[in-house]
Amino acid sequence: MDIKTTLIKMTQHPNTHARWLNSLSYLEYRGLRMILRSQKTADIDDGVLTHALEEARHALYFKKLAMKVGGHYFSQYNTETLLSVNHLKSYFYNLDKETLFHYKTSAEHFENKKVYELMTWIIEERALLVYQIYDDVLRNQCFDFNLAPVLSDEAKHLDKVRSLTKDLSASKIKLQSIEENYFQIAWKAFQMEIQTLDHVKERSNQIHHNQQDSQSSAPERIS
Ligand SMILES: [Fe+2]
Ligand SMILES: [Fe+2]
Repeated sequence: MDIKTTLIKMTQHPNTHARWLNSLSYLEYRGLRMILRSQKTADIDDGVLTHALEEARHALYFKKLAMKVGGHYFSQYNTETLLSVNHLKSYFYNLDKETLFHYKTSAEHFENKKVYELMTWIIEERALLVYQIYDDVLRNQCFDFNLAPVLSDEAKHLDKVRSLTKDLSASKIKLQSIEENYFQIAWKAFQMEIQTLDHVKERSNQIHHNQQDSQSSAPERIS
């Protein structure tokens, strides 16, 4: 199932949709933590603070939407309010480890800031791609919210880190296929989890049942 089809399915039930929104909030929060932890205090400049502030704003935006769709139950990041939380953590952890490894093996002079820029670049590429598809899904299904406030920031972040990392093309090519692999693992876990959620099963059973009813009551064709 591709990203768009999975997202359409996720948005069909408020509880699943709220879990998805809360997971996006959690990912933004992890991104914020990564930004702050990846820099030595002396190296945190206005650009890093602005980026951290915007990621915190995204985490809050998605959190508010999760609560709007699913209620106060989604005010925290408990496991049962998220989708595939261990896979989300692994995605960040593995990517962080691989980014450091590939930068170290290809860079002549190690710069902590470059690791941060490389990691930011790979995550921003993925975030923008998924957010654009999700935004389309929301608009097509006439939800009363969309991702406009987040998309404009993410496009700006991506432009900036693309130019900051333009001299790291060897590391970027390797990281792109590694990230794709980790993303596919996390995405498959999402898909499996939503399939096992009871209400989704009930809904598909109902649809199947209705289809059988309409087939059995359809007049027979005379040839
Ligand atoms: Fe963000
Ligand atoms: Fe961002």
